[in-house]
Amino acid sequence: MSNLAPARILAIETSCDETAAAVLENGRILLASTVASQMDIHARYGGVFPEVASRQHVLAILPVIEETLAKAHLTLENIDAVAVTRGPGLAGSLIVGMNAAKGIAIGTGLPLVGVNHLEGHIYSAWVYDSGDMPAPEPQFPLMALLVSGGHTELNLMEGHLNYRRLGATLDDASGEAFDKVARMLGLPYPGGPSVQKAAEEGDPTAFKFPRAWLEGTWNFSFSGLKTAVLKEVKRLEGRPLPVADLAASFQAAVVDVLFKKTMLAAREFEAKEIIVGGGVSANKPLREAFLTQKEFKVNIPRLSLCTDNAAMVASAGYYRFALGHQDGLGIDVLPTWPLS
Ligand code: KG4
Ligand code: ZN
Repeated sequence: MSNLAPARILAIETSCDETAAAVLENGRILLASTVASQMDIHARYGGVFPEVASRQHVLAILPVIEETLAKAHLTLENIDAVAVTRGPGLAGSLIVGMNAAKGIAIGTGLPLVGVNHLEGHIYSAWVYDSGDMPAPEPQFPLMALLVSGGHTELNLMEGHLNYRRLGATLDDASGEAFDKVARMLGLPYPGGPSVQKAAEEGDPTAFKFPRAWLEGTWNFSFSGLKTAVLKEVKRLEGRPLPVADLAASFQAAVVDVLFKKTMLAAREFEAKEIIVGGGVSANKPLREAFLTQKEFKVNIPRLSLCTDNAAMVASAGYYRFALGHQDGLGIDVLPTWPLS
């Protein structure tokens, strides 16, 4: 058990196309979480339309916060601090959440804690539902694989809020590669889930797509793989596209590299466990690869905590608050990472 001071955090997350709020106790116990997705609206454009996203956040932010407090049967008087995603993300989206959080902090006198979205994805591994058996606390040193729409990286954590970025993608993020390949294959937005679905009917060995191992580094690269898929699509032009086989072979290449490099890093740095976070950690074959190996304890959050949510922001916010690493009301949208 941690001996940090108990605290209830209200968190707000609006970095991309999800308006989210959550109330979390002591960094881990989730009392309520709301995610208002704009997915259907952006699907029409084949991707996130930033101006539309900020306008939707403006409409949704207050109802989402009110609904979350109501679900937790709490009012702002029962909250100890407000946490908010300060970046990285779409500036127009971040500003809506930041201003809501600052407004609440100024109006109530509660402390304000700025959280980096990426550390939020990592801290989703700490969260469990109130009413559930307490989940074992992640043990340091741990290897965190962060796989989202904008990032793909390996971070070694030797303690709370202590991130050593070992390597990252040199070009596309893994989620971005899923989204772009989905578009090439004529599959709907968001790309990750639709590639996964199409791949269920396909043969992952049908196409021999390249894996960029980048040996001797902990970096990743997915642009060569993306180009290889595009070349196949062009070569097959005029014929019925084997979408399922292409999707399955692409997905297998991504999973292969993410899984094997993370395992190597965990061994090399003698990690006690592996954490996988970010939207791509919702991917079924990726989850299966980690969950079927026996060498390391693995913590991959349930699906609703993999994609963007505020529970993860509340968890990182709690540790910042309890350990005295909060930024206060002066915080601005600053996408700096890793954090010092
Ligand atoms: O973490 P997230 O919700 O937002 C960012 O911080 O970027 O991640 C979104 C990314 C998108 O690229 C989406 O296609 C991908 O996560 N994703 C998936 C799956 N679900 C979401 N990728 C592969 N398989 C999935 N099941
Ligand atoms: Zn995210």
